[in-house]
Amino acid sequence: MSVLPVTPGPLGLDDPAVSAVLARLYATARHTDQEVMARAFAEAAKRPVPPTPAEAAALCAEASLPVHPQLGRLLYTLGRMLRPRSAIEFGTSFGTSTIQLAAALRDNGVGHLVSTELDPGKVDRARANLAEAGLSSQVTLLLGDARRTLADLPEPVDLVLLDGWKELYLPVLEILEPALRPGAVIVSDNLPMLPEEYLERIRDRRRGYVSLDLPLGDGIELTTWTGVLG
Ligand SMILES: C[S@@+](CC[C@H](N)C(=O)[O-])C[C@H]1O[C@@H](n2cnc3c(N)ncnc32)[C@H](O)[C@@H]1O
Repeated sequence: MSVLPVTPGPLGLDDPAVSAVLARLYATARHTDQEVMARAFAEAAKRPVPPTPAEAAALCAEASLPVHPQLGRLLYTLGRMLRPRSAIEFGTSFGTSTIQLAAALRDNGVGHLVSTELDPGKVDRARANLAEAGLSSQVTLLLGDARRTLADLPEPVDLVLLDGWKELYLPVLEILEPALRPGAVIVSDNLPMLPEEYLERIRDRRRGYVSLDLPLGDGIELTTWTGVLG
């Protein structure tokens, strides 16, 4: 009888470099985000018109606003499950969810993530965090408004995380729609904050979507694009 050698599998989010960066990012968020956001809301309230997405990003430049750790684990699991060749993230911030997705791609040995962020300082921080986690080669970071940076994607998209400003989920989805592969999965974070018109679209079978709300983390919507209209 021959005995197969057992080689250890990837450590996933428990990889020491990955878990160290994630622990630091969550600790920073717990320490800082509430105060930064209180200041941002107070400042926005003083303005005669609501801030534009870029102005809101500047007000929140020091807040990391990471995905809930449960969503992070779901993103890693979906990444391993779906083995996406092409994944997209709207809203990089300091790179918490970017790291969770990129770890899955690295452990699969296949796939690339494109993540986009409006604030230049956050792109720099995310780049440094990805490097520290050893995940730079799995990710392309794009600086700019997702409505521009995600237009004209060259290849079919298999997995999408929407986690930028909530009023932009629908315009960003509309930009991504032509690139979605049938069976693509879309994760929309912060379900309680999402506009009704977005939810109507993403739950509309006639528009090609099958969707489920999940009480996970801060509340998410898990959706697949079937590619079949009508
Ligand atoms: C909730 S945070 C993202 C958190 C990140 N996914 C994580 O887990 O660390 C939302 C981010 O989206 C960015 N954002 C908002 N609107 C954007 C847009 N139009 N294009 C690109 N990024 C945008 C904000 O600057 C902010 O950093």
